[in-house]
Amino acid sequence: MRVLVTGGAGFIGANFVHSTIAAYPEAEVTVLDKLTYAGNPASIEGLERVELVVGDIADADTVDPLVKDADIVVNFAAESHNDNSLRDPYPFIRTNIEGTFRILEAVRRHGTRLHHISTDEVYGDLEIGEPRKFQPGDPYIPSSPYSSSKGASDLLVRAWVRSFGIEATISNCSNNYGPYQHIEKFIPRTVTNLIDGIRPRLYGTGEQVRDWIHVLDHNTAVWDIIHKGRIGETYLIGADGELSNLDVTKLILAEFGREPDDFDHVADRPGHDQRYAIDNSKLVEETGWEPHFKDFSAGLHDTVEWYKTHEEWWRPQKEAVEAKYAKQGQ
Ligand code: NAD
Ligand code: TYD
Repeated sequence: MRVLVTGGAGFIGANFVHSTIAAYPEAEVTVLDKLTYAGNPASIEGLERVELVVGDIADADTVDPLVKDADIVVNFAAESHNDNSLRDPYPFIRTNIEGTFRILEAVRRHGTRLHHISTDEVYGDLEIGEPRKFQPGDPYIPSSPYSSSKGASDLLVRAWVRSFGIEATISNCSNNYGPYQHIEKFIPRTVTNLIDGIRPRLYGTGEQVRDWIHVLDHNTAVWDIIHKGRIGETYLIGADGELSNLDVTKLILAEFGREPDDFDHVADRPGHDQRYAIDNSKLVEETGWEPHFKDFSAGLHDTVEWYKTHEEWWRPQKEAVEAKYAKQGQ
């Protein structure tokens, strides 16, 4: 099995490469990654049966031969951070929309199976406290340049299935946490701040809710969809992990033996989505998928330990990331 993993030097893609190599002894993995600020070759260094090609998914000449040689493409490559998309949307348009278009055209030419990785943020947000969760058929009403570019990419995939008969599935997952996540994101930023003795920064009131899933569980669901999902279908991936940002901050503070109010409120994110929550019943009913990490505190503890023991992986970026946040009062 020849697997092309785009964005495989990023957070979720790198974890996918590790678990694919471990679970499928016959798999040969090619990673296509542009190595933007978010891609780190160290995350997949030294793995057997893994080749890294440095290149852009928006470049047709790079993408075409790699897709031709693969049995399946799993597209993780994206610009992925909401805060960055508010500062400069263009890279999101180019990578997330044009990049997906280039992959689709190559898949169409060569008949390669595609799984496209997307986000629950395409569905906009929910009210805090309401019982409703996102369903696969909900309308796309994204809030930010990031989520709208991901929504556009999903719509292209759906159209290429319908119009050109390509074999593709889509998954929209909730917020991931775990090893190798860039320290600009909420959980690793908070953890590495505490390692450095900096107080965590909570946007606005901190009452916003995210539906946390361990990255390993996201990736087992992706393989289940590849094996058992129906072509053209969209599956929502989530593990019933709803928590407010305030509660997550308190749990991380407890991991460091700090007081629950030992954090600062900072400027809120413009257009801040209030709540995400996933109804995973279609995924569970059709594939039998079950998450391994059902207890967020246990998964969080492992993640904190990982950042404590892998300082060489994140340290080089810490100063620049905090300088960028400081400029926007966060
Ligand atoms: P990430 O930012 O950590 O990694 C993205 C990777 O893509 C990086 O290695 C980067 O170098 C690479 N890349 C960016 N532009 C590229 C291009 N033009 N060509 C080739 N490679 C390029 O992101 P992540 O958190 O691992 O997210 C992966 C995917 O999962 C994204 O599609 C994202 O929308 C989706 N997703 C993420 C989350 C989450 O909580 N992180 C939740 C749901 C869905
Ligand atoms: P983030 O990790 O950027 O993911 P997303 O925007 O995809 O949900 O942020 C998660 C939540 O945490 C979001 O509500 C914004 C908030 N947040 C903070 O409160 N403080 C921070 O330092 C960061 C980076 C995010």
